[in-house]
Amino acid sequence: MERTFAMIKPDAVGKNVAGEIIAMIQKAGFNVLGMKQTTMSKKQAEAFYEVHAERPFYGELTEFMSSGPVVALALEKDNAVVDYRKLIGATNPAEAEEGTVRKLYASSIGENAVHGSDSVENGQIEISFFFSRWELEL
Ligand code: RTP
Ligand code: MG
Repeated sequence: MERTFAMIKPDAVGKNVAGEIIAMIQKAGFNVLGMKQTTMSKKQAEAFYEVHAERPFYGELTEFMSSGPVVALALEKDNAVVDYRKLIGATNPAEAEEGTVRKLYASSIGENAVHGSDSVENGQIEISFFFSRWELEL
């Protein structure tokens, strides 16, 4: 079994579609190991997206990610990282395939409803950003 980290972003939580997105995740065969709704401070969002610190959209991204509550999820499934990214679709919803989370719920490349880890290694780092060992019963 592989783990990945998922987050429902403030736009989707604000539209009250977190439940629908969690249902899609569970119907796609992911086990939810941990789940919490929380609001990131600007500092926490900056730390979470530190890899993008040099990108022109970093300020806008961390402003948006700390603008309201998010739902953080630690997920488990065979091939979890790749399968979750298939489920959510392309970063830009205009390029996302039919039936993907971003096609259904994202409104723009910036406000794109969900986050997903891009590798197993980053998934572990991101899970430990939001969940302690105790919470996940490691
Ligand atoms: P994420 O990390 O949130 O799952 O998204 P991703 O892998 O599909 O995309 P990534 O390249 O890692 O970008 C992280 C987030 O930054 C925002 N973004 N804005 N304005 C822009 O051109 C732009 N490009 C990226 C998006 O919210 C993207 O999800
Ligand atoms: Mg990414």
